[in-house]
Amino acid sequence: MSSLRKPQPVPRRDFLGAAALMTCGATLGLATVGMARLPFPAVIAGESSKIKIGRPDDIAMGEERWVPSARAFVFRDKDGVHAISGVCTHLGCIVSRAPTGFACPCHGSRFGPQGEVTKGPAPSALPWLEISLAPDGQLVVDVESRTATGSRFRV
Ligand code: FES
Repeated sequence: MSSLRKPQPVPRRDFLGAAALMTCGATLGLATVGMARLPFPAVIAGESSKIKIGRPDDIAMGEERWVPSARAFVFRDKDGVHAISGVCTHLGCIVSRAPTGFACPCHGSRFGPQGEVTKGPAPSALPWLEISLAPDGQLVVDVESRTATGSRFRV
């Protein structure tokens, strides 16, 4: 005589009831998780558009430098410091310095020394970027700003 009992088949009605109960439980659980997330922001804050480029004295008179983090060229002359965006206004390639201004390697646009378009297809000039002074004494370039061509931050 064996003590093992032969497993009984689960009735179809019981199986469907258990499946429905588990589906309801899973739905309720996911809804609870979704509601718990509601008070928190759904987006992650991006990087700031303001890039520190160093103290005014770090930029020598007559110097020009490429600032990769700002994707901009920074210049210092007797009138102050200014920054010109290095992002081509055609499709966003990074321009390089050329003897007559700036040159885009992607589709051949050329820009003059002030960023003005001298050869398309770029539709508009390279923008001049706003410069300000941070509380810690460093110059800050706002890469999403625009300022008038020819304006300088006086140092
Ligand atoms: S991205 Fe500069 S010319 Fe097209």
